[in-house]
Amino acid sequence: MPTDSHPGPLRVLVFGAALRADSTNARLASLVARLIADTGATVDHATMHDFDMPLYDGDVEAAQGLPGGALALRDRIERSDAFVISSPEYNGSVPGLLKNAIDWVSRVRPQPFRTKHALLVSASPSLFGGNRGLWALRVPLEHLGTRVYPDMFSLARAYQAFTGDGRLVDSDLQQRLTETVRAFLTLVGADVRYVCLERRWYEFLGDRTEAPVTQRAEG
Ligand code: FNR
Repeated sequence: MPTDSHPGPLRVLVFGAALRADSTNARLASLVARLIADTGATVDHATMHDFDMPLYDGDVEAAQGLPGGALALRDRIERSDAFVISSPEYNGSVPGLLKNAIDWVSRVRPQPFRTKHALLVSASPSLFGGNRGLWALRVPLEHLGTRVYPDMFSLARAYQAFTGDGRLVDSDLQQRLTETVRAFLTLVGADVRYVCLERRWYEFLGDRTEAPVTQRAEG
């Protein structure tokens, strides 16, 4: 039984979490955006340049409120059912740029992460594809109540991994990414239509969490 007034195509925000022009994570984000669009979902394709903001400073927040870039990210998350981040790994963890953006947006009330699903992907020239960074990225997102999809996708040797038209050279990997994206959207679609993943409790102290009983999709 539908539980809200959003029966339309899924809305998914996709962005790469690096600023440089030739970012492999921007390229991976573009590929994921294309795969999502192929399913009929609506893609909001962003870059970190859309979310320019200073380093978090509580005094700045008290005096001026949230910077425009943080509010823009909040708005675009809020308008989506789910978001996909393609993030580099910096020193085995989350790039400061991305963590700073999450920290600013977490100051909005109600913070928008708590009702969203997320798929995490990464690209790196290393053999591990930046996968450790994604495990680190799960922590703040899950702390904020985001439903982070269990499967992740990490693209190793990313500088050699793309074809001229933006697909993956390795057709098996292309297939795996396609299947991961589709499985993620199936879960998001089920939750949007049937609200099967409501949260009863998560740790973030900034939200009241007396939510209804969690219903997990089973069977
Ligand atoms: C890196 N890089 C990197 N790569 C990796 O796989 N594990 C790591 O821990 C790090 N650490 C790291 C720290 C810093 C400060 C920089 C600048 C870079 C390399 C990184 O994966 C590489 O620069 C990618 O190309 C970054 O992604 P984009 O910019 O191509 O999207």
